[in-house]
Amino acid sequence: MLNYLIKKYNVPGPRYTSYPTVPYWDLEGFSTEKWINTLKKSFLESNSKEGISLYLHLPFCESLCTFCACYKRITKQHNVELLYIEAILKEWNLYINLLPEKPIIRELHLGGGTPSFFSPKNLKFLIENILSKTNIHPKKEFSFEGHPNNTTHEHLQVLYDLGFRRVSFGVQDYDLQVQKAIHRIQPLKNVKQVTETARKIGYESISHDLVFGLPFQNLDKVINTIKITETLQPDRIAFYSYAHVPWIKGVGQRGFKEEDLPSGEEKRKLYEKGKELLENIGYSEIGMDHFSLKSDSLYQSMIHKKIHRNFMGYTSSSTQVMISLGVSSISDSWYAFAQNVKTLKEYYQKLENNELPVFKGHILTKEDLFIRRHILNIMCLLETHWQNSILQENFPEIIDRLKEFEDDGLLTLKDNQILVKEEGRSFIRNICMAFDLRMMRKAPETKLFSMTI
Ligand SMILES: C[S@@+](CC[C@H](N)C(=O)[O-])C[C@H]1O[C@@H](n2cnc3c(N)ncnc32)[C@H](O)[C@@H]1O
Ligand code: SF4
Repeated sequence: MLNYLIKKYNVPGPRYTSYPTVPYWDLEGFSTEKWINTLKKSFLESNSKEGISLYLHLPFCESLCTFCACYKRITKQHNVELLYIEAILKEWNLYINLLPEKPIIRELHLGGGTPSFFSPKNLKFLIENILSKTNIHPKKEFSFEGHPNNTTHEHLQVLYDLGFRRVSFGVQDYDLQVQKAIHRIQPLKNVKQVTETARKIGYESISHDLVFGLPFQNLDKVINTIKITETLQPDRIAFYSYAHVPWIKGVGQRGFKEEDLPSGEEKRKLYEKGKELLENIGYSEIGMDHFSLKSDSLYQSMIHKKIHRNFMGYTSSSTQVMISLGVSSISDSWYAFAQNVKTLKEYYQKLENNELPVFKGHILTKEDLFIRRHILNIMCLLETHWQNSILQENFPEIIDRLKEFEDDGLLTLKDNQILVKEEGRSFIRNICMAFDLRMMRKAPETKLFSMTI
C-alpha cells in the first residue's frame, strides 16, 4: 500500500513557507508602494500587541556544499563583511523611517548562507545598530545559524551577550562518503565542541540540521548519524528531506550524479527509519521535517497551538509582520509578500539610491488569506476546520481532492474539518496542495519544486 501511495504522491510540490508560493505570485498586481501600505497597516494592527519578527540574511560562505539550495555567495574574502553590514543597516533605516512607531522586536533570526562567516566583532556591530532603533519584546526569541566548522567560542559568547538563546548548526550526515559527495567535510569533534560550548554558555535551545536523501546515503548511514546525534542531545532536530533542485541557478548541485541519490522509495525508508529512531529516543515530530524534545519551546508551542510557519521555517511564536533584510530575503506583512533583489550588485545599487531593494511580491486577495490560513493550520497542526460548509459551497474542487486523500486513508474529513492521520503525515505537502487554488488554476510550464517525498 505504502509503495502505491509513494508512487502516486511523489510529485513536485512546494514546502509551503508561504501561500501563495513564490512561482504563483501575481507580479503585475504588486508594487513597492502597495507593499509599504500593507506593511504599515499590519504593523499598526500588531506591533504593540505581539511585536514583529526580523530576519537578517547573511549570504556568505567560505566553501560551497554541493547539495545546498540556500541563497549564498561563496568567497574567502572577509572584506565583504562591512560593506554588506552597512547596506543592511541602510535598508533597516529606510524601514524605520517609514514605520509609524518604534518596532518591538519579538523574533530576530540570522540566517544564511553562514552567519558565522562574519567576525564576532562585526556581528556585534550589526546587531547593536539594528536594535538601537527598536524596543525589545519581553518574550523575545533571538536565534542564529552557525556552521560547526567556523563557529567559535567568541561568536557564541558575543551573540549570547546580545540576547541570543537559540542556535542551529548544519550537520547533514556524519558519514565521510556522504560528506565528500556534498563537499562538506565536517568532523564530529567540531559539532561536539560547538554544541557543548553553546550549552555551557547558556543557550536554551540547540538545534542540529540533518538531511535524508543525500547522495550515497543508506539505512546504515542514517542510523549511525542518529546514534551520534543522540550522544549530543540537541533540543531540536530538523530532519530535512533533501530538495534536489539542480535547475536553480547557482545552487551548484553537480558534485555527484543522479544515480548516486536514493530513489523515492529508498528515500522514504530513510525518513521512516530516522523518525522511528528519533521518537524512540524522546523526540516528538513537529509539523513537517522537525523534531524536538518535550522540554523545547517548539514542542510547547505545538501543544498550545501557538506554532507558526514562515520563511524562517517553524517558529514558536507568531507575529503578523516579518521584515527581512538582505539580498534575496522575503518579507511578510500577512497581507503581502515582498522579495529583495537577488544579486549583491543590485542590492547595493538600490540602497545607494535610497530605495527599498524590493523587486517583486504579491498582495494577498481575500481568497488567498482564507487558503493561507488553512495551509498554515495543516503544516503546523495537521488539522484545520471551517464554518458553515463554506469550503463545500465555494470550493467543491478542494473537497473532491480531500476525499481522495480520505479514500487513501491519509486523513479524516467530517464536520467541516480535516484531521491528518499519522499515515498522512508524510504526505502533508500533497494535502496542502489540495487547497492550493493558485496552483490548480495555473499548471506550471517548467519544473518549479522539488519532489514531495
Ligand atoms: C543556511 S544552512 C545552515 C547554516 C550554515 N550555512 C551551515 O551550513 O552549517 C541551512 C540548512 O538548510 C539545509 N539545506 C540546505 N540545502 C538543502 C537541500 N537542498 N535540501 C534540504 N535541506 C537543505 C541544511 O540542512 C542546512 O544546514
Ligand atoms: S550548507 Fe551552509 S555552508 Fe554549505 S553552502 Fe549552504 S549555506 Fe553555505
